[in-house]
Amino acid sequence: MCGIIGYTGTNQAAPILLKGLERLEYRGYDSSGIAVINEKIDLIKSAGKIKVLEQKTDGGKKLSGVIGIGHTRWATHGVPSDVNSHPHLSADGNFAIVHNGIIENFAELRAELSSKGYKFKSDTDSEVIAQLIQYYYDGDMISALCTVMSKIVGSYAVGIISTYSPDSVYAIRKDNPLVIGLGANENFIASDFAAALEYTHNFVQLGDGEIAKLTSRSALFFDAHGNRMEKTPYRVDWDISQAEKGGYPHFMLKEIYEQPRALTDTVRPRVKNSEIILDKIAFDARNVNLIDKIDIIGCGSAYHAGIVGKSFIEKYCRIRVNCVLASEYIYSDPITDNRTLTLIISQSGETADTLAALRLAKKMGAHTIAIVNVVESPIAREAHDVLYTHAGPEIAVATTKGYTTQVAALYLIGLKIAKIKHTVSDARYSEMLDELINLPQKVEQILNDTDSVKSYAAKYSSQHCVFFIGRGTDYAASLEGALKLKEISYIHAEAYAAGELKHGTISLVEKGTVTLALITQSALYNKMLSNVKAVQSRNGTVLAIASQANIAIEDNSDGMLTIPDCDDDLTPILTAVVLQLFAYYVAAERGCDIDKPRNLAKSVTVE
Ligand code: G6P
Repeated sequence: MCGIIGYTGTNQAAPILLKGLERLEYRGYDSSGIAVINEKIDLIKSAGKIKVLEQKTDGGKKLSGVIGIGHTRWATHGVPSDVNSHPHLSADGNFAIVHNGIIENFAELRAELSSKGYKFKSDTDSEVIAQLIQYYYDGDMISALCTVMSKIVGSYAVGIISTYSPDSVYAIRKDNPLVIGLGANENFIASDFAAALEYTHNFVQLGDGEIAKLTSRSALFFDAHGNRMEKTPYRVDWDISQAEKGGYPHFMLKEIYEQPRALTDTVRPRVKNSEIILDKIAFDARNVNLIDKIDIIGCGSAYHAGIVGKSFIEKYCRIRVNCVLASEYIYSDPITDNRTLTLIISQSGETADTLAALRLAKKMGAHTIAIVNVVESPIAREAHDVLYTHAGPEIAVATTKGYTTQVAALYLIGLKIAKIKHTVSDARYSEMLDELINLPQKVEQILNDTDSVKSYAAKYSSQHCVFFIGRGTDYAASLEGALKLKEISYIHAEAYAAGELKHGTISLVEKGTVTLALITQSALYNKMLSNVKAVQSRNGTVLAIASQANIAIEDNSDGMLTIPDCDDDLTPILTAVVLQLFAYYVAAERGCDIDKPRNLAKSVTVE
């Protein structure tokens, strides 16, 4: 995720900005840059590591001045390159900005400003902010920033400097974190505490729609209408490593909690007036009607996301879908051609087996769409089309937000195709789209109340073996739940289609064997009830994960966790979050190395 640092004080800004950027490196980035005011704005930026920026700036010595902003970029719009790196300058060079987040209406704003003669240098959504500030500036920065905030739609934390206000750093934010660090004769803006913790422990949280104006000796705050407001500072006693994890004990938990934001970024920018616009992917009646089969290919959790996608797409699009493990696909002599749409799923975009499968599918004539998180990764570059999930960097080896955003991306693709093919009614389409848009809030509800999941995790943490069962889309979700548990807690965990239990697995159920039963499919409630009873009658223990419509299962199970009310077809994202938390707390209870489980790698670039 991008990182922001801004400084105003009495020391040279550039070395402090570079140090701050190093502190933000853990967030993942592909380029960086700094801008400092020295009468005009001097700016140096570069694709690649911060070391390159340090060399380019001679450790900061090439930029003189005591006010500046810096940024580490994780590409979302536009490839990682010098020109797409932040800061971005306005056309007249009098304003520079750094931005975290996504400006959803950047294309409209850019077209509007271009028609007024503004020239854009980068492919980013962010540059439009600098140009807009120039456009609306009439001598009063606060008023210009209020107007800009009223024009931009999306999520943002923005740091701004201007030659018209050469003693100040400004900041605005909405739905993207930004803190203000208050030092002695120096003040900071930062996307997280880690960047400024070396200089101060006193912080102010900038709220949604608020503006900060910092000089070396003052910190003023304004609401979205430009009215002054008071903010109370608080002390943060974290060390740097705690700060990097945002106060969470592990990156995995931090990333679990980032899911409402990540899912919002996957879905919201792609829904405009009830229409799904999948970036540059040209889905229209002609090419959609040519598809007679969809292959979904991935490894690990990406493959599990594909299985969820398969049942959704088949149901709504009435197209046959094969979900295939990449490592199997490449040696399977696949049946594919130009009427096969191939969805290649990969968080990292560089998994060797998945890349090999993509190349084979392309060679055989299939049209390929990559669903990828890392921008400009090999899979993103080589596929015919790409749909980025915008989950942001994942540091924990076990994927969480990577997986749920892949599922969300598949829902978007499924609904888009179904609408074009008229295999979904308009009413059902709107209903599902609304549900999808509201999912992040429901994830938030789960994350706000984790006491029960913690207590069941503690209760079952000494198990040697845990089974997961479900039917339909719950079976698909069970696969990922079991993988999460085995990856990080080292408990043997297996998922079974509930109806298959009686064909073998039931022989392993004995007194105390724990089975997690996913029950979110109302039409299959009675079938699941029978499976639950079958486990219990062998003295097994059943923990149900149920949707609101199915909470009656509580009377027939040994415990229950629930998900918020949700359409049955979209429950896997919610059950995934519950199961991620369950796996996390079990592993924490067992004292496991959660972020770096033994023998596993985040990105597997060997076959
Ligand atoms: C590794 C990771 C998994 C991931 C899989 C596929 O095994 O540990 O979390 O699901 O690779 O990775 P990808 O980056 O292609 O999604």
